[in-house]
Amino acid sequence: MEKHWWQEVVVYQIYPRSFRDSNGDGIGDIAGMTEKLDYLKKLGIGAIWLSPVYQSPNDDNGYDIADYEAILDEFGTMEEMERFIAEADQRNIKVVMDLVVNHTSDEHAWFVEAKKGKDNPYRDYYVWADPAADGGVPNGLGSAFSGPAWEWDAASGQYYLHLFSKKQPDLNWQNPKMRQEIYAMMNRWIAKGIGGFRMDVIDLIGKIPEKGITGNGPQLHELLQEMQQATFGDHDLLTVGETWGATPEIAKLYSAPERNELSMVFQFEHIGLDQKSDGEKWDLQPMKVAELKRILAKWQTELGHDGWNSLFWNNHDLPRMLSRWGNDQEYRSESAKMLAILLHMMKGTPYIYQGEEIGMTNTPITSIAEARDIETLNMYNARLAKGYSEADILASINAKGRDNARRPMQWDASSHGGFTTGTPWIAVNKNYPDINAEAALADPDSIFYTYQKLIRLRKENPIIIWGDFELVDTVDEVISYYREYEGERWLVVANFSDAAQPFSVEDEIVEVIIQNDEDEITGLQDLQLKPWQAFVVKVKA
Ligand code: NOJ
Repeated sequence: MEKHWWQEVVVYQIYPRSFRDSNGDGIGDIAGMTEKLDYLKKLGIGAIWLSPVYQSPNDDNGYDIADYEAILDEFGTMEEMERFIAEADQRNIKVVMDLVVNHTSDEHAWFVEAKKGKDNPYRDYYVWADPAADGGVPNGLGSAFSGPAWEWDAASGQYYLHLFSKKQPDLNWQNPKMRQEIYAMMNRWIAKGIGGFRMDVIDLIGKIPEKGITGNGPQLHELLQEMQQATFGDHDLLTVGETWGATPEIAKLYSAPERNELSMVFQFEHIGLDQKSDGEKWDLQPMKVAELKRILAKWQTELGHDGWNSLFWNNHDLPRMLSRWGNDQEYRSESAKMLAILLHMMKGTPYIYQGEEIGMTNTPITSIAEARDIETLNMYNARLAKGYSEADILASINAKGRDNARRPMQWDASSHGGFTTGTPWIAVNKNYPDINAEAALADPDSIFYTYQKLIRLRKENPIIIWGDFELVDTVDEVISYYREYEGERWLVVANFSDAAQPFSVEDEIVEVIIQNDEDEITGLQDLQLKPWQAFVVKVKA
């Protein structure tokens, strides 16, 4: 397999609204991101996935784009964006832009035109349908943000499709003219020197709404191959698709090199483990480590040499993993480091979500007035109307709500965690006096330095990038695997629980690579792992 830079780096996701506010308006901005590039350089990352910074009415915090080639005023200017890309480049950091092309904002010029009438040349850029025989919605498709996916347009007597909010009308990927405009836009971004694209809900662009098909439509891969040829095909860019419905088989269709589609996809199989199988993400059930282990190992082995994995615990849509499956109280440091070691030693490109590297936690709310996210607010109203109790709904929000990840980055112990000198658009977590980047940098034993070391190890040891993966048979709560490359063998051991756990293998230790505990590891036979203990050792091959 040809080797690429995007296999060797660690990617850091910035959610710009909540990263760093440089001008005191309570909203993060591009100048704030530029200010923090040295911090990211110190961490060691090689690329940034930047959530949307484009002009947007912010119905879905920028995932509703009104102009792909203008920067949101609150974030800054195109000159500042270009400077950010150049400054990142000087630090050997590439900027991967968020490409949101399943839908636009209803305030995008194309949709404004499309709404003018059935004859408008832009009408067919979007998905329109006549009412059903009874005058109601064309079919039963639902929006990911509650309610039907169809919105009535009285002026033309048709419905338009929105798989997300009604301010996010779906683009019609059957329209070749629309596709060419998207490709031209992508090429203009590529010309600015970006490092690639993270492709928002890209598995939906092959939709056939009249048949009720949304994800994995029949022409999806053809469309991606067309896009690849028209845009990034000649450049070695990182392209990562957000694909909620991917299985390993499907992931190979996207990422097998000879298919010329994407570098890799985000798959979410492990992310659904605390969701009832017959419910929505809000319907909770306990996560079983044995299942997590089975799924992680399945992706590691099945993608093998025919595709490439992305590795992540967190992003701006997910609650923070440290609070979710780790222990953000008495074992905050141990469990955060365990999660880091377990993930970064697997095969694939690791992603860090802002604040993960300092062990930021979820932020429970006691009233819906504290929520900001459209998905959360819509679900709250929909479930109240269905008769759910307020307490139940808040419990779901605290476990799964997206605002958990969107609280301001905690930089220091000054007011609002040093995120802003003004009033933040969403309140900072009250634990910022203890959990913040400045404190982490001052403590050689902090979570930050575990991440830094993992990234450095990746640069120094090809086994982490290229080595084969083999799962070790253990008790349910322990996840352990070997990596093997050119005669070298490493063993990764992680206790994914609050309790001590037994562990034993016959191997002999050659060298301890990294651990989240001070006690010396002298052998691998008949161990009692401490709660959340994790280590990596080189063993005799
Ligand atoms: C996935 C994005 O990550 C999420 O934040 C957004 O709401 C939806 N796609 C719609 O764009």
